[in-house]
Parts: sequence; C-alpha cells; structure tokens
Amino acid sequence: MPEPRIAVVGATGAVGAVTLQLLKERGYGQVRALASARSAGKQLDGGLVVEETTPEALAAGDIDLAFFSVGTSASRELVPHAVRGGAVAVDKSSAYRLQDGIPLVVPEVNGERALEHDGIVANPNCCSIPLTMALKPLHDAAGLARVRVSTYQSVSGAGAQRMEDLRATPSGEGNLTMDWDFDGEEFDEESKLRDETRKILELPVLPISATCVRVPVLVGHAEAVWVETEEPLSAEDATRLLGAAAGIRLENLPTPRDAVGIDEILVGRIRRDPTVENGLALFVVADNLRKGAALNAIQIAELLLQRRAVAA
Ligand SMILES: NC(=O)c1ccc[n+]([C@@H]2O[C@H](COP(=O)([O-])OP(=O)(O)OC[C@H]3O[C@@H](n4cnc5c(N)ncnc54)[C@H](OP(=O)(O)O)[C@@H]3O)[C@@H](O)[C@H]2O)c1
Repeated sequence: MPEPRIAVVGATGAVGAVTLQLLKERGYGQVRALASARSAGKQLDGGLVVEETTPEALAAGDIDLAFFSVGTSASRELVPHAVRGGAVAVDKSSAYRLQDGIPLVVPEVNGERALEHDGIVANPNCCSIPLTMALKPLHDAAGLARVRVSTYQSVSGAGAQRMEDLRATPSGEGNLTMDWDFDGEEFDEESKLRDETRKILELPVLPISATCVRVPVLVGHAEAVWVETEEPLSAEDATRLLGAAAGIRLENLPTPRDAVGIDEILVGRIRRDPTVENGLALFVVADNLRKGAALNAIQIAELLLQRRAVAA
C-alpha cells in the first residue's frame, strides 16, 4: 500500500502533539505539522518544522489524510479546504459531529460507518468515546433503557494552556470547575455527551443524563456510569462481556494515572445498582489525549486505509 501523505493540523496543541507521537510510533514517514501563523517556523521535538495552515496549503492536492485538532470555529473554516484538495479529514472538534451524513466514529463501536464518509469523518468528544465503548456490549446483551453519567475530566481536555495553568497552581489550591458553555440548564459538554452517544449507538431517543465536571488532574478522564437495561444483566455477566470487548481492559479500581499512555480504556467497579430494576454501576477511565482524541482518529484513518477508502 502506498504510504499516505499526512497533515497534522493543530500540531502544536495538546492533541496534535500526541497525534505526531503516535504516527511516529506507528511508522508513518510522510507527516507534516501545521498550526496557526503564530507557530509557523517553530521546530517541534521530533524535528518537524511547523507550517502555517492556509486554505491554499490544505487544498494543494498533496495531502491524503488530514487530522484536525484546531477547535470548532477553525475546523469549520479549514476542513473544507482539505477536502477540496482531495484529502480525507478526520476532525476532532465538535464542528461536524452531529451533522447528518457525516459519520461519527469509534472504531470498536461503529467502525463500519466510517466507510460512508464523503471526505469528513468526525471524531467524538473525549468522554463520548470511552462511554460508548463501555455501553455497546451492555446494549448488545440486554438493551439500554437509561444511562446516567457523571464525569471527572482532566484539564488537558481544555488544551495545552490549561495544562500549563495547572502545573503553575500551588499544590492544594486546585479546584473543580465547570468551564463549558452554559445554556441556563446544562453545559454544552453535557448535551454533546448525550447527543453523540445517541448518534454513535444509533439509539436516537436513549434517555441519558450527564453532569460534567473538570478536576485538577493533568491527563485522564473518568466517568461514573449508572445503566438501566431492558433485560436483567448480572454484574458478573457484564464484567465478562466488558472484559471480552475490544479496546477495554478490566481494572478493579481504575484511576486516570493508570490510563495515561495506554491504548485501552479501563473499566472497573462493575456492580449491581440495587436502587432500580436491572441497574448496573461502573467506572470508566481513559487517556483523553490518546483514545479520547489522537488514537481514535488514527484508528479511524487506519480502518479507511485498510479498506482502501483513502486515496493514498
Ligand atoms: N484535549 C482533548 O482531550 C481533546 C479531546 C478530543 C477533542 N479535542 C478537540 O481537539 C481540538 C484541539 O484541542 P487541543 O486540546 O489540542 O487544543 P490546544 O492545545 O489549545 O491546541 C490547539 C491547536 O490548534 C491550533 N490552531 C488554533 N487555531 C488555529 C487556526 N486558525 N489555524 C491553524 N491552527 C490553529 C493551535 O496552533 P497554535 O499553537 O499556532 O496556536 C494549536 O496547535 C479542539 O477542537 C478540542 O475540542 C480535544
């Protein structure tokens, strides 16, 4: 298979840096690093020199795969130029996730949907990816009736600058924050988690309620999940199903630190929720920069490359 020509757009950011690192580990040689004009000319750790992202550079016809991690408004503006130039764009912002006709993909959950792309595949939110991975085997076995989730999200989910801010915070002064857009009732992070989960699982009316909270942790998002199923499912059976699912590792008491730098998501504390009929509770943890963002996007691209759905 010819080697794909890859552009990492947002290469100087928290997700872009992990994307470059993973591409290198996986042996991709034709990789370019792009970011805003602010970073043009800067040399990155791996030796790549950052190029300015312009519509002309993206549309020049010499990119097969473009990974975007630049934020929603920049993605809206820039992704169409890459597609115009013939690239397949895997976009990690929320710009296209809920758009009809654009696949929103977690390879272990709905990988086949990626093949339906028309130039853009959307990468889900960093909490939606692990949540849907844990819910899918339970749904297949017993049918999901209701989901409640409470998140504990690390600061790296808000970008490289927030990581610097936490590093500079005196020990003991870290706080919980809720730093998303608020519509008077809920944060956009909470509605994203609900709407993306429904789209990925193809359960458009699944009752799902989320409370999202940012915690003073550098990397690794955790989620406490309460599930009600249509049919009874014991905690033992749920444990067996989750342990056999692709991309999941069972861990008794998973923490963000356990998840950092690994490809799998960690699932633990799987137990009966005795307060409702057919209730289960579990705890899910993932490296938000890796499986929550960069790795998932690369796995989408590799699935397309294997099926020759990228013109490399
Ligand atoms: N962090 C996560 O866990 C996570 C997970 C899933 C999805 N995402 C999504 O990924 C995106 C980036 O997140 P991040 O955490 O990596 O943010 P970040 O650390 O703030 O990095 C942002 C990157 O985008 C570049 N950029 C910004 N505006 C640009 C423009 N107009 N043209 C070209 N490049 C531009 C920046 O370049 P400069 O350095 O030159 O400014 C930088 O490389 C966001 O959409 C976020 O929602 C993040």
